[in-house]
Amino acid sequence: MDKKVHLLKSYSNILVSEVENPGGLKVGLIELNRPKALNALNTELMGEVAEALHAFDKDAEIGCSVITGSEKAFAAGSDIKEMAEMNSVDAYSAEMFSAWDRIRLMKKPVIASVSGYALGGGCELAMLCDMIVASECAKFGQPEINLAVIPGAGGTQRLTRAVGKARAMEMILTGKMFSAREMFEAGLVTRVVEDGKFLEESLNLAKDIAVKPALAVQLAKECILKSFDTTIETGIEFERKNFYLLFSSGDKQEGMKAFIEKRKAVWKGK
Ligand code: CAA
Repeated sequence: MDKKVHLLKSYSNILVSEVENPGGLKVGLIELNRPKALNALNTELMGEVAEALHAFDKDAEIGCSVITGSEKAFAAGSDIKEMAEMNSVDAYSAEMFSAWDRIRLMKKPVIASVSGYALGGGCELAMLCDMIVASECAKFGQPEINLAVIPGAGGTQRLTRAVGKARAMEMILTGKMFSAREMFEAGLVTRVVEDGKFLEESLNLAKDIAVKPALAVQLAKECILKSFDTTIETGIEFERKNFYLLFSSGDKQEGMKAFIEKRKAVWKGK
């Protein structure tokens, strides 16, 4: 198993570390750590995730991040105990989703490493990430309907875009849980792995990305995400501008030169 190096900062609800990646940039690791509440996502925890991810985003030595939970639960949803007494004005005034909005703006890729329950806000946090690696035992669902509410952290939008209308309707209107395999087949999950291997496999995927030229990785992510909220014409225009922009990077000169000289490129991330 990978050696996790220095806990960067002490938080109340998450553990934060860096994983070495010989030959590439490091991987930032965030472990949700509220085991007694099955990693239910309260406001404080989400603020910490956003802060830690932001620090990774700004750190030139980090190429990719991973968010994970425990074997039993990635996260069993937003914290029902925190929300139980809130009325709509409280919820609006609390800006419940400001941390989610900050996470959405991360430039570097973020991988969700899911074992056990990814329910409600837990499924939505996984979908807010750029890829999902899931254990065979992972269970995905949007059970908010059982609480007489609906997904509020992007679930109706991201799930529908990922799995299509028919499956999204079924998941959100019945509140049922679906297996990692079903979600892989539906297009939500990037890779299903053996139980117990979810973190190792997620870190391997993150490392594969963190050895690539960082600026091209970030701009590719930006273009892919753009495809969800624009027309094909505007999306292609956006892609083309980013493609041209990369022609001014040192890494582009190095990458093409190294290919012609039949040697391994050395990336600088700019
Ligand atoms: N919020 C707060 N606490 C939670 C929680 C949640 N979402 N999910 C679990 N917990 C707590 C339980 O209350 C329990 O605490 P206590 O020991 O203090 O009673 C502890 O975690 C363990 O949970 P269970 O005893 O229920 O564990 P289980 O193994 O029997 O069941 C489960 C596991 C099926 C996941 C069940 O806990 C469950 O159904 N959880 C709620 C799932 C849910 O409805 N999620 C959606 C939340 S709403 C939302 O997310 C809104 C949004 O879109 C933003």
